[in-house]
Amino acid sequence: MDMFLDTFLLDFQNRNSHHNFPSLIDYSVTETAEEDKTKKVSFLVPASQIDSFTPSPQDTKYKASILNFSLFYGKFQALRNISMDIMANKITAIIGPSGCGKSTLLRSLNRMNDLVPNIRIQGQILLEGENIYAPGVDIVGVRRRVGMVFQRPNPFPKSIYDNIAYGPRLYGMRRRALLDEIVERSLQQAALWDEVKDKLHHSGMALSGGQQQRLCIARALAVQPEMILMDEPASALDPVATLKIEELMQSLKSEYTIVIVTHNMQQAARVSDYTAFMMIDNPQNRTGVLVEYGPTAQVFTNPQNKQTEDYVTGRFG
Ligand SMILES: Nc1ncnc2c1ncn2[C@@H]1O[C@H](COP(=O)(O)OP(=O)(O)OP(=O)(O)O)[C@@H](O)[C@H]1O
Ligand SMILES: [Mg+2]
Repeated sequence: MDMFLDTFLLDFQNRNSHHNFPSLIDYSVTETAEEDKTKKVSFLVPASQIDSFTPSPQDTKYKASILNFSLFYGKFQALRNISMDIMANKITAIIGPSGCGKSTLLRSLNRMNDLVPNIRIQGQILLEGENIYAPGVDIVGVRRRVGMVFQRPNPFPKSIYDNIAYGPRLYGMRRRALLDEIVERSLQQAALWDEVKDKLHHSGMALSGGQQQRLCIARALAVQPEMILMDEPASALDPVATLKIEELMQSLKSEYTIVIVTHNMQQAARVSDYTAFMMIDNPQNRTGVLVEYGPTAQVFTNPQNKQTEDYVTGRFG
């Protein structure tokens, strides 16, 4: 089944059973008094104090903080002790070689990984100061606040209108006039309205690849998230459609915080304000670690770490 639909369905079951999947999460680390204190003063103690990250002086608002975060798929540790702050209304790029845990980290930001059996996490991810992995957290609420766009455009086999209205309807919205408004606003924001306004009831599958991806972005925007996660959103698109998506990201960041995973170094350099470089720490355990994180210009032109330099200059072996 398509993953987006999966997510919506999970939300749906979740809402109806009031079941928060506590068994997936290892709370042993997050429930100490020490960690609770961190939660309450999160904006005073950003993750930047843990590593050497310094945001640009004009950027003062934090949207999320990843604090000493580790993730295990069964016995395999995919992420170890990741700490990084996500700045509000900025585009943060996550780069690094295949298999280093970029998608895993991205999916952790809206608890999408909860869909995977046998995962276990340690540490915290704060969204506006609140730990989204704390016991009793409403996962539906988290997914609503943090939307996701995937690598391959994945419109539902439904009309353009129904694709966009899907989320709002799932969350209980029934009024046609309001749905009409949401559909138009979302398509406007995704820079797709002019191209589809006369065929809202045609299938979303009949659009071009680039249009389908903008439809998926519009679908994510329809539930009015605060943060949008994009996992290689343009890698299946041609250069023109890619440019459109990049322009769209720029226009969205005044209202949203965006985190993007990309393999395209030029794209990371072009669109992002901050760049995080990840790697596996060694070929035996293949555990993903954060090697360097900072303003994009710094990471690309003056990296602090030799491995980062090798990677961004294409010398990576
Ligand atoms: N559902 C899963 N179950 C078990 N292991 C997984 C699962 N998903 C990912 N992994 C493993 O976790 C590690 C990180 O995978 P992830 O997909 O996050 O990497 P990535 O950096 O996004 O790679 P790519 O650039 O190829 O997309 C890999 O070793 C992968 O095999
Ligand atoms: Mg990936």
